[in-house]
Amino acid sequence: MTDESPGSPSPVLPDACDDATVRRAFACADRSALVDLPHALASFELYAIDRWVERYAAAHAGAIWDSLGLPTGELDLGAAELARRAGVADGRWPMFDALVRQLRARGLCDATVCDPVMDPLDRILRVRAAPELAPLRMRAAEVEVGPTRALMDHVAVGYADVVRGRTTGAQLLGDRVALALWHDYFAPTNPGYHAANVLAAELARRVLPAEGALRALELGAGAGSGTIALLAAFADRDVDLVATDRSAALLDLARERVAATPKVARVALRRLDFDREFPPDLGTFDLVFAANALHAARELTGALAAVRALLAPSGVLVLAEAVRLGPTDELPQALVFALAPEFARSPRAAPPHRHGFLARDEWRAALGAAGYAPPVELPDPVALAGSGLEFRLSAMAARPL
Ligand SMILES: C[S@@+](CC[C@H](N)C(=O)[O-])C[C@H]1O[C@@H](n2cnc3c(N)ncnc32)[C@H](O)[C@@H]1O
Repeated sequence: MTDESPGSPSPVLPDACDDATVRRAFACADRSALVDLPHALASFELYAIDRWVERYAAAHAGAIWDSLGLPTGELDLGAAELARRAGVADGRWPMFDALVRQLRARGLCDATVCDPVMDPLDRILRVRAAPELAPLRMRAAEVEVGPTRALMDHVAVGYADVVRGRTTGAQLLGDRVALALWHDYFAPTNPGYHAANVLAAELARRVLPAEGALRALELGAGAGSGTIALLAAFADRDVDLVATDRSAALLDLARERVAATPKVARVALRRLDFDREFPPDLGTFDLVFAANALHAARELTGALAAVRALLAPSGVLVLAEAVRLGPTDELPQALVFALAPEFARSPRAAPPHRHGFLARDEWRAALGAAGYAPPVELPDPVALAGSGLEFRLSAMAARPL
């Protein structure tokens, strides 16, 4: 990227994503909201991974902006004009919007946007130079970011081509290279990702009765890392689990993972699309479990309501999601997921270029609209507020009203 104009404020990101800076911030934060979480979820490692990923996403977003031939510094240009200059193809506005949102959330873009969704008429006032990829100084030994780095690198190379309509997000995220990357990303060995699975499984354990047989359904089980977390949390229980996903390729990965775990439960793997009517032979469940999946629903309220009908009396839906911290926040990982077709036709489909990661209160509202009582949340959002911790994960346990 070109240099910032003299005297312009520096990005909100710390100059160096080094151990000392991040360690100091962690030490100063109020971590009481995390005290009753499993250790890995309250660890410095997870905090450091999140900070590292934010910075890496910022650097890539800046490089993508450059590769679209767009300027930095003072702009004061309408988003539609910038999209025209970048050669954004028909139907690819959501991906361009996601790029701007990413820059904005990382403190690299000022825009006259009041609404969380950018309108083509909104003005972009300034885009600042992004941090370089090279000076990411967080010690690799300290944080395991390999799979995230590899996935972001893959997406960053093709992002401009997707925006310009030369390829599709489905191709970029679904080619053979990408499938291998997903295998490593959606994995129990990828702590930044697996945290959501562990959080959901922990909450499921807390809200379900401590003994007795359990019939469970998993939605969007994908590569099976949530499945593994769930099986581990209920290792001492008689569990009958139906793990489902609409992707046969991902379910094959899940099959391998489940086969490699101790036989603590009966696990059936089955293709199931939660955007379609559930098959009548599915039955009812004590637990419906969805880790990092339901944000992709075509029509979220409808999907949540359909899930409600699958719950046995006293059954519970437990979901875990990465959440935005507020209207202008964006998940760093959205730089990857914004290219997925389901993000271009999101649950918050009006206006249509909105994509699927919601804030905590938006999840609560969606659950309420679908006929659930207010969920139990982990961690407690009230305790988190004002803690100084940018904790973008939430598990929710919801029962029908
Ligand atoms: C972020 S991945 C999570 C995978 C899994 N929970 C894990 O942790 O390994 C989201 C999953 O949701 C699945 N998915 C998205 N839309 C779906 C739908 N309409 N029906 C079923 N699965 C869906 C995707 O195929 C993908 O496997």
